[in-house]
Amino acid sequence: MLKIRPAAPGEALAPLAAIDTSFTTDRIYRVQRTALSFSLEEEVIAPPYHKTYTFDDPVAELRDMDQLLIAEWDQKLAGLIGLKYEAWNRRLGVGHLFVAPPHRGKGVGRGLIEAAVEYARSTEARCLWLETQNTNYPAVRFYLRAGFRLCGLDESLYDPRGPGRGEVALYFARDL
Ligand SMILES: CC(C)(COP(=O)(O)OP(=O)(O)OC[C@H]1O[C@@H](n2cnc3c(N)ncnc32)[C@H](O)[C@@H]1OP(=O)(O)O)[C@@H](O)C(=O)NCCC(=O)NCCS
Repeated sequence: MLKIRPAAPGEALAPLAAIDTSFTTDRIYRVQRTALSFSLEEEVIAPPYHKTYTFDDPVAELRDMDQLLIAEWDQKLAGLIGLKYEAWNRRLGVGHLFVAPPHRGKGVGRGLIEAAVEYARSTEARCLWLETQNTNYPAVRFYLRAGFRLCGLDESLYDPRGPGRGEVALYFARDL
């Protein structure tokens, strides 16, 4: 059964950092633009797109979070969400949200979001906020089902020469 708990003080972060962050999708959101507008259109792609989220120092990234919530399924790691508060605009940023592949589609991600909302309500935060990419069709569908709304995009965030080239950043928020 699913249990969600905050990371314990001093808890080893390496097992959390080792969670499989990859996904595969046969569709993406293609960003169409005019001079003053954007729209996102679902596009089937072949071959499917496979991506693994990588971090230079994943343990340091997790340590940098204000709050880490861990999902366990029958006492085994099933997923995690990392949260970081921005005081100047009172947004609680979702830095990491990953569910281990065998546990996807079972409500673990939704459980983590609801636990994050509960935590957020104990702070001064006014919304949850996050970034994903136009290539992460499964995550976009998930965030819409989990009560988020698209609140912006940035087609210049990723360096065409670097990781993430060709991707457009999409921003989502869920008001508290
Ligand atoms: C995106 C992710 C966190 C979703 O977690 P999950 O535990 O599989 O999602 P849940 O089972 O809680 O699903 C919740 C809702 O989202 C929907 N959803 C989840 N995955 C979906 C998918 N691939 N396509 C369409 N809808 C999806 C579910 O249908 C469900 O909706 P419903 O309950 O209203 O029917 C998980 O798939 C994941 O870790 N992906 C890889 C890493 C990643 O992309 N992280 C986000 C980076 S921004």
